[in-house]
Parts: sequence; structure tokens; C-alpha cells
Amino acid sequence: MGLSPKIERMSRLLLASNRLPVTVKLERGRVSVKPSPGGLATGLWGPHQKGDGLWFGWPGDMSKLTAVQRADVERKLAELRTVPLQLSEQEYHRYYEGFSNSVFWPLCHYQIDKVSIDSKDFDAYHQVNERVADLLASAYEPGDVVWVHDYHLMLVPHMLRDQIPDAKIGFFLHIPWPSSEVFRILPWREVVLRGLLGADLIGFHTHSYMRHFASSVLRLLGVEARMDSVDFEGRRVRLGAFPMGIDAREFAALADNPDVLQAAAQIRHDPHPRKLFVAVDRLDYTKGIPRRLLAFERLLETSPELQDQVRLVQVAVPSRDAIGSYQTLRRRVEELLGRINSRFATPTSVPIHSMYRSLRRDEVVALYRAADVMTVTPLRDGLNLVAKEFCASRTDEDGVLILSEFAGAAAELGEALRVNPYDLDKMAAAFKQALQMAPDERKRRMRAMRERIFERDVHDWCRSFLHALEQVGSTEQTPRPLLLRGPALDRLVGQLREADPIWLFLDYDGTLVPFAPFPEMAGPDADLYELLEALGRHPRIRVYLMSGRMRADLEKWFAHLPIGLSAEHGYWIRSPAGEWTAITELDTEWREQVIQIMGAFAERTPGSFVETKTTSIAWHYRNCDVDFGLFQAHELRAHLTETLANLPLQVLPGDKVVEVRFQGVNKGVAVHRILGEHFEGRAVALGDDRTDEDMFAAVLPKGCAIQVGYKVTQARHRLPTYTDARAFLRRLL
Ligand code: UDP
Ligand code: G6P
Repeated sequence: MGLSPKIERMSRLLLASNRLPVTVKLERGRVSVKPSPGGLATGLWGPHQKGDGLWFGWPGDMSKLTAVQRADVERKLAELRTVPLQLSEQEYHRYYEGFSNSVFWPLCHYQIDKVSIDSKDFDAYHQVNERVADLLASAYEPGDVVWVHDYHLMLVPHMLRDQIPDAKIGFFLHIPWPSSEVFRILPWREVVLRGLLGADLIGFHTHSYMRHFASSVLRLLGVEARMDSVDFEGRRVRLGAFPMGIDAREFAALADNPDVLQAAAQIRHDPHPRKLFVAVDRLDYTKGIPRRLLAFERLLETSPELQDQVRLVQVAVPSRDAIGSYQTLRRRVEELLGRINSRFATPTSVPIHSMYRSLRRDEVVALYRAADVMTVTPLRDGLNLVAKEFCASRTDEDGVLILSEFAGAAAELGEALRVNPYDLDKMAAAFKQALQMAPDERKRRMRAMRERIFERDVHDWCRSFLHALEQVGSTEQTPRPLLLRGPALDRLVGQLREADPIWLFLDYDGTLVPFAPFPEMAGPDADLYELLEALGRHPRIRVYLMSGRMRADLEKWFAHLPIGLSAEHGYWIRSPAGEWTAITELDTEWREQVIQIMGAFAERTPGSFVETKTTSIAWHYRNCDVDFGLFQAHELRAHLTETLANLPLQVLPGDKVVEVRFQGVNKGVAVHRILGEHFEGRAVALGDDRTDEDMFAAVLPKGCAIQVGYKVTQARHRLPTYTDARAFLRRLL
């Protein structure tokens, strides 16, 4: 036996995120390289350490380091397999503080009043994304898997796809994707969507973010998403919900460490034993700190007996503190702390103990261990790892988790006491309920959450995302069409010019002209007339316009040209200067029934209308509200398919149209009829729509099928738009 043919090579993982998992800090002349704050850095650090890949991102401000310090730091970063992306002061200000954190962050967390739009910020964002894409492209080796993270780098997937079309690219968003009604506020909304759709797989923390994303794609790009995928630019992009996990075992081990247990006991030590509430957040307006303090105040107010029986420890980690809205928040929190503490303090105690700094992980875990009640009450939060870390640390299966229903983690942690942070009375009531909860109920709830957190930990998260990314593309059968540009275009034109004759079968709408709001408005222009005339007169070219339109339309526009016409999806054929002939006899009894059904839909769906032709009836919804139009189209299709089940009819979805057609008539049948069995030369078909696929099937495999646009197709070649199609035809002359 020879060597096993399957030599396993683990794909190398190239990670990219705004922040590296470690941050370089210069304090009082001393340099340190410390773990970065935030869920993303903490969550991916373990998986990165276990592999052999690279991590690209910002290492913190290194501009003030001496040459020696810099060399030392660079060596450390290289040892950690991290590749630093330096940001200039201006880039940091505009890309990070500006677009990322003063536009996209507040927008996705529904804090619209904090969105501050400046196009220079977006320019910088674009530039930094380009630098990251370039760095990734230069490190990329075939077989690598690229995983881009979070809202700072949303343009990277498309930029990298342009450089390496076959790369496996995953993207994970760590923050919420808002309702499309909110997302559409963004002036660069289409650019951002396109940027993300460069990936093969886009992951979110919850199904609801994923649904909002799909509806943004539909509303703003007009591209329909299925449950878990979108076809975009000829590629299938998968969408998935992958709620991030934590390294639960590591937290549990740390929580049982004697030093941590001792620290926890010290935190609990109190001359007058009081129940301990804990909160740990970055000082961010999304975390709902002021409302939590107000709810705590409400608890003390409404239950005076608790005033000397409870206290709250609030850790607020400094974050993005050069941004105005964060400075305002800090003032507000300090004001509230001052007010509440002075209101309820006694000579020996204060109700709220607050720390404005970052704690080490062991210190955080000691707090988790010490808490009677953990309060995680963000106004919006992509997921919230703190909630999971708290549960993982409670190896004693005790403690109560109060969790905002607006945290992504709420979708998984149903046993927490869930609160709406905007409802102060109920939040205060939940605080009280937590204090009164019986030990066995606390245990039951905690045990259930812990089980889930241990099962779906960060390693499982990583594995399932990367597994899903590996799977992408492996199930698609048809090879991707070749984009006709540069040498590929020259080659094809060269080959076709050798043929005698070239048979051209050209769809009209969407292929030679753009779509218009109403079909009658999409008439030919002077340039197209000139082109069709020249093609028609060429001694070695035969042209047929293959349209779904009525005979009268085509006759009105094209009868004077030396070209053949086919109307109503192949039912009618007219050779140049000839008579119209029908391809078959028709039974037309079904027409009335279909017209009636579609008419009823048109009445109920503003902006839609019915078009009647000899062989087909079509319901158009291009001018409707996108969501409602699509919903009605699904309903109509289901209804028609059921009603017409026993008739020789086909129900076809087209581009913003649902059409019922007489079976056995299509553009492919017409192409065969025109060419006859033994024809000379080469057949070329250009079309943009599903109804053109019959034509493509008729000319392939010996001929040439070209899809105009980016739909999934059996055509082997692709031209992006109708202007490219015209340019291509001109070259055949
Ligand atoms: N954290 C920390 N030190 C602190 C406070 C928090 O290391 O003083 C960590 C915490 O353990 C968690 C992360 O920061 O892993 C916060 O993640 P989360 O998802 O809760 O919120 P984010 O900051 O990402 O919005
Ligand atoms: C959130 C984001 C992360 C970010 C973290 C800390 O978790 O999703 O991408 O790293 O907050 O914020 P910062 O701005 O300090 O990186």
C-alpha cells in the first residue's frame, strides 16, 4: 500500500479584527503588552493560540515608543503570531472613533440620536479596510481560511474577494444587526451590504439579527434572501446564527482557585452582612448603567427595609473615552452615583461601590463568585459574555442572573430573570424577586444555564462556524460562469468571429435595456437601434430578439430592422421581414381563471398590475413595497400552483414578476425551431432572467450562453450589465 491519499492539512486560519487580542500600553515610560478588553478579543484568544494562523489588527498606540521599545514589542507580537496594523492619529480618530463608534455602533444599538455622520470618517473607514484587505491578500496562501470580525471591517470581505476570487472568507458580526428600518438611515448602506456579501458565510449571534440582515439586503439591494442564504454576484452567500460561547472550563477552574475564592470571601466580608449585587460592563451607553442605578434606587425607595441589607458593586471599564457621548455618559453615571449614595448612605456604609477601571480576569471572576445577584441589563447588546462567564464561574450552582431581554444572550439563557431595562419598576421588582428566590429554584435555573454554556462553549462556536464555512460551495454543482473581461473577453470574441454565421439570440429587457418602472417605458434608444441594425446587416450574423413581450410591442419597435423577432417567450416567431407564426395551437380556457386570481392580487397589492398575453398571464410587482410584494408573490405562486395543478401550465417566478405560462412553449423551443436540426455556424444566447435559461440550455453545449447580471445560472459566461452586453455585441461587428 502506498501513502494514504488523504494527507490531512489543517487549513491555516487568518483572523482579522480591529483590535488585536493584546494591546500595547505605555505607562510612565514602561511598555506592557496586555490582553485587550471586550468580548471579541477574549473569546477568540483561545482558538488562536491553539492553531498556527495569524491575527491581523490594531495593537494600540505605538507612536510614542522608543526604537528599542518598539523592536521589543514587535518581537513579542510576532511570537504571538499577531500582525500589527498601525493606525495614524487621523485614521484612529476618523475610522475608529468616527465611523465605527460614532456611526455604526450607535446605529446597530438603536441609539439613533448618537449617530454623527461625516463622509470623511467613511473615507477613512474605507481606506483602513483596504489596508487590512491588502495585508490579508499578501499573507494569503492557497488553502487558508480567512475569518474577518466585527463592524470595523465590513468592507474587507468584498475587497479581498476582488483580489482572491476563490478565497474562503467568513465574517462574524459581534454586535446586533438592527431592523432594516434603522439600518437604512446609513448613507453608505449599499456599500456596507456589498462589502459583507463578499464573504462566503456571514455569522450573527442570533436568528433575529440574521433576519434583519436578510431584510436589509432585500430592501436596499433588491436581492431576495432565502432562510439561510443570498445569491449575490453569482455566488451563494450563507447566513447563520452562531451565538458565541466562552471558555467555560477555564472560568470554572479559575473560579475554584483558592486565591480567587479567598478574594471572593474578602469582597463579601462586611461588618453588616448585606446581599451583594454585581455589575461588570465597559462604560458604554448601550450597557444601560444609568437605568440599572435608577432601578437599584427604586428598590431602596420602595423597600426601605432593604436599605441596610443590600449593596451593589459596579465595575465600569473605561472605553472610547475621547468620544463625546461616552464622556456625557460618564458624567451622568457619576452624578447618579453621587446622588444615590448620598441619599442612602449611613455613617458606616454606602449602597453603591463603583470602580472606573479595568480588572484582571481573576478579579472579575472573584466578583462573579461573590455575587448573590448578577445584573446584566444592557439596552442592546450583541450577545454579552459577562452573563455567560458569571454562570460558568458558579461551580456552586448558586447566584441569580438578571438579564436584559435586549442582550443577544437572552435567546439562550431562558432561565435567567429577564427584564426590560426601560421598565424601572419591573426591573426593581426583579431585583427583589432575585433576593427572595429560594435556594433550590436558584440551583435549578443556574444548573440549566451552566449545562448549555458548557455544551456550547467558545471552542464549539469556533468549530461550528469554521465547519459551516468549509461546507460553503461544496454543495453547489454548476461551475461558476466566467466573467467576461480582459483576456477572457478577447478570447471569446476571437473564437466567435471565426464562426459563419453567428446566430445571436438576444433577450431584450434587462439584457439590452435596463428595467423601467413600467414595461412600455423601456423602449429602445438610438444607440441600441444602431447596434441592432449593424448586427442585422452583417453578412455573417443572424439576430433574433427573444422577448417575453407581446408581438405588438416588438413590431412597433423593431419591425423596420433586418432582424428576427420572437414574442411571448417563444410562442411567436417572425423571421426578418417575415410573417408571425405561432409555434403550436393553444387551449385558452385557463386564461379567465388566471386573470381573475391575479386581478384579485393586483387589487390587494398597491403598485402591482396584471399583463395578459396569448400564452401567458403575468403579475408584475416591481413598483410595490419590496417586502409586501415578495410576500404576495409567494402567496400567489402557492395559490396558482394549487389551483392549476392539473392543467398544462407552468407557474414561473421572474424578476419581480409571477407568470403563468402554457407548458411546452419557451424560448428554448423557439431557438430549436429557428435553428432547425442541422444548422451551420455557432449559436450565442444572451439573457438575464430565469426564462432565458431555456434558451441557454438550447444553445449549450456547443454554443455559448452568456448571463447578463449576477444570478445563479447554467450559462458559462457572464457580463455584469446591459452596457457590457452592448459593448460585447459591438465587438462582434
Ligand atoms: N472584562 C475584563 N475586565 C473587566 C471587565 C470585563 O476582562 O474589568 C471582560 C469580561 O470578562 C468579558 C469582556 O470583558 O469577557 C466583556 O465582554 P462582553 O461581551 O460582556 O461586552 P463587550 O465589552 O464586548 O461589549
Ligand atoms: C465590542 C465589540 C468588539 C470590541 C469591544 C471593545 O465587544 O464587538 O469588537 O473590541 O466591544 O471595544 P473597543 O472599542 O475597546 O475595542
